[in-house]
Amino acid sequence: MRNKMDVKILKRFTFLYRRNFEIFLLIFTMSIACILLTHHVRSAIKNVRYDRQLRGESITVSMDKRQIRNDRLKSMLHCFDRPLQMEQLQYGHYWLLKNLIRGRRSIYMGCTESITYTTNGDYTFLDNIEMVVTRWMGPVSLALFAPGYDFNATMDSIQYARHCLPESGLIRDYVTFHIYFPNDHMPPERVPLTEEEALEWPYDCQLAEAPYENVDRSNMYKTKKNLTYPINVGRNIARRAANTHFIFACDIELYPSRGLIEQFLDMAYDNVTLVAPSREGKAMRVFVLPVFELKKDAAIPDSKKELVPMLRAKKAIPFHYYVCKSCHVVPQQEHWVNATFSDKLSVFTVGKRHKKYVYWEPFYISDNHEPLFDERVTWEGQSNKRIQNYAMCLLDYEYHILHPAFLVHSPGIKKYNPKSERQQYVGPMNKFIAQKIKPEYAVLYGTNKECRV
Ligand SMILES: *[C@@H]1O[C@H](CO)[C@@H](O)[C@H](O)[C@H]1NC(C)=O
Ligand SMILES: *[C@@H]1O[C@H](CO)[C@@H](O)[C@H](O)[C@H]1NC(C)=O
Ligand SMILES: *[C@@H]1O[C@H](CO)[C@@H](O)[C@H](O)[C@H]1NC(C)=O
Ligand SMILES: *[C@@H]1O[C@H](CO)[C@@H](O)[C@H](O)[C@H]1NC(C)=O
Repeated sequence: MRNKMDVKILKRFTFLYRRNFEIFLLIFTMSIACILLTHHVRSAIKNVRYDRQLRGESITVSMDKRQIRNDRLKSMLHCFDRPLQMEQLQYGHYWLLKNLIRGRRSIYMGCTESITYTTNGDYTFLDNIEMVVTRWMGPVSLALFAPGYDFNATMDSIQYARHCLPESGLIRDYVTFHIYFPNDHMPPERVPLTEEEALEWPYDCQLAEAPYENVDRSNMYKTKKNLTYPINVGRNIARRAANTHFIFACDIELYPSRGLIEQFLDMAYDNVTLVAPSREGKAMRVFVLPVFELKKDAAIPDSKKELVPMLRAKKAIPFHYYVCKSCHVVPQQEHWVNATFSDKLSVFTVGKRHKKYVYWEPFYISDNHEPLFDERVTWEGQSNKRIQNYAMCLLDYEYHILHPAFLVHSPGIKKYNPKSERQQYVGPMNKFIAQKIKPEYAVLYGTNKECRV
């Protein structure tokens, strides 16, 4: 009897044991599956995010490699992450609404995570912003000059660009807007006090055309009041507002070849002394992009592979070829054109602003340590970039020409126009530069017979 009982208990026990084991096994397998699945989904999300960032670019780097690059550059370049903040400032005789509307991704951009394209304009130049941001795929710092009632149209234009274009999402992600106006040309009504208020500015995507398109310039406040355009004030505002270590001070009508940010940061990561020579007490340097002009109806080349046939067919020519060829041609430009294409960015050649290049006014990537743009020089007076490069010549800057990256101007070839209204400003400005600015620069930077304004 007792024995029978024991066998029964034993059987039951075994049964329980087995069932528990099965349950245990089931739970165990499911946990493993869960872990694997989360991991997979996570990395998939990362990749999607990353692919989006690189949309249109030919290089793909893994997230981890980017992080490693970022950390290493940050420690080597000694820079700090600095979130963008809105500020209302007095800037000389201007009022400045700095970071009035910030790019959502640009706010917290790490100092070595990207490069800021810094630029300027009035609202009529906003037709370029979509092209710039889709090709740059990184932070853009844009200073807009908006005196008097131009302020309204400026806000209308910003909101239109941020909401009504196919690539408005990228504009909201990356473009940070600053607005400035002279204190004796105030907007007629209250301006937004905070970013929140600015974002509430109404917009209408049903308009027949964008508020910045086909503007009759003669009706603008700026024109009515005969104001000159303080281009260098805008350039400096945009530069000073950047929160990345490297910047690219550019004109908004110049579009970079694709993938440049990733290419440049990879180049920097491969050889930090190349981009930060000051750590070894060597000459200061900037990284120049050759710039080209396109025929009116030409497509915009994405890479040098597309550019070269256009050059051969004369659909693309060196920038300002008919206006001031020697202002923009880079040393060994023909060799540059002939050089074999490579995905990797490198320094093609190194030059100084001497001899054949004394009037050079190149566009370049820099660490934002080069002299500021002289704010007394207006757009109308021309020489507005030359004067800065003159200072850099006095400081003995080296210009490192990059390959295969480049810039193209918004299509249309510029011809010299002696009747241009700007001409009336050029004479007096040159005189001012010779009599006032040059002597000042001699005190600040010294003199050098090789250097010309
Ligand atoms: C500016 O815009 C506001 C509303 O956005 C409008 O009430 C005002 O009349 C405009 N002012 C001018 C001068 O156009
Ligand atoms: C602007 O210049 C034009 C021609 O040079 C002149 O007729 C006009 O009075 C000026 N307007 C102002 C507001 O200074
Ligand atoms: C890195 O750049 C420096 C400065 O231009 C150069 O002298 C050096 O040869 C480069 N190093 C390598 C490994 O390419
Ligand atoms: C570049 O290539 C073209 C055509 O292949 C040739 O005619 C020209 O001489 C080359 N220029 C240089 C500087 O090598």
